[in-house]
Amino acid sequence: MSPVVIGNATLYLGDCLEILPALSKVDAVITDPPYGINAARTRNSAKDGWVDYGCDGWDKERPGREIFDAMLLAAKLQIIWGGNYFTDYLPPTRQWLSWDKGQDGFSLADFELAWSSQDKASRRIHYTRRLALKEGKEHPTQKPVAVMRWCIEQAGRPTVICDPFMGSGTTGVAAAGLGCIFIGIEREPKYFDIACRRIEEAQKQVALFPHEPPSPQPEQMVIA
Ligand SMILES: C[S@@+](CC[C@H](N)C(=O)[O-])C[C@H]1O[C@@H](n2cnc3c(N)ncnc32)[C@H](O)[C@@H]1O
Repeated sequence: MSPVVIGNATLYLGDCLEILPALSKVDAVITDPPYGINAARTRNSAKDGWVDYGCDGWDKERPGREIFDAMLLAAKLQIIWGGNYFTDYLPPTRQWLSWDKGQDGFSLADFELAWSSQDKASRRIHYTRRLALKEGKEHPTQKPVAVMRWCIEQAGRPTVICDPFMGSGTTGVAAAGLGCIFIGIEREPKYFDIACRRIEEAQKQVALFPHEPPSPQPEQMVIA
């Protein structure tokens, strides 16, 4: 199937296990696979009920080892959210990235972990769930744009980024804001359409407000 091209984003509707190995190498894979914890339905604290996002089932099982092997081959750098669920597929690493959600001891996690292939110190971002919810939520496990943007910065703003488990396209939205070329893959048509719209809107915003210069990485900061 031919992809949808939106500016510098190329988006594939389909199974990443088939599509990713057929693509040219990219600079970084930055992604958020299903963790296999059945998160397709999410508790909405405002209404205190269960919200069905309409695509039940995608998070019932973890993806298999083959797609992790393909992601490791597809780029020289990987950042993979939920890495703690995939330690049997991924080699030991020095760098973990943590999203601290600014909450303690709720039924939901205080933080989430991403496995990173970089031989660098581990880092964390503090970004509250309250702020994340203000962005709106069209996918049950939607990551905040600020968190994905931070990941891209941690990776040194790679020129070409691929997210093979794109969901609602948050990595692509963050990539648009930073002027990175983006390749996304998503299997569920409903989430694919949401991703197309969000990435197109993000690119329009960038046309109005040009890219910011890179933030200094810790290694570049001078300690007096
Ligand atoms: C954890 S969600 C990603 C959410 C995303 N980070 C966001 O902010 O919206 C994982 C996504 O991977 C998709 N998915 C699962 N298996 C897939 C496969 N084999 N190929 C492509 N997409 C897949 C699911 O439909 C789901 O939308």
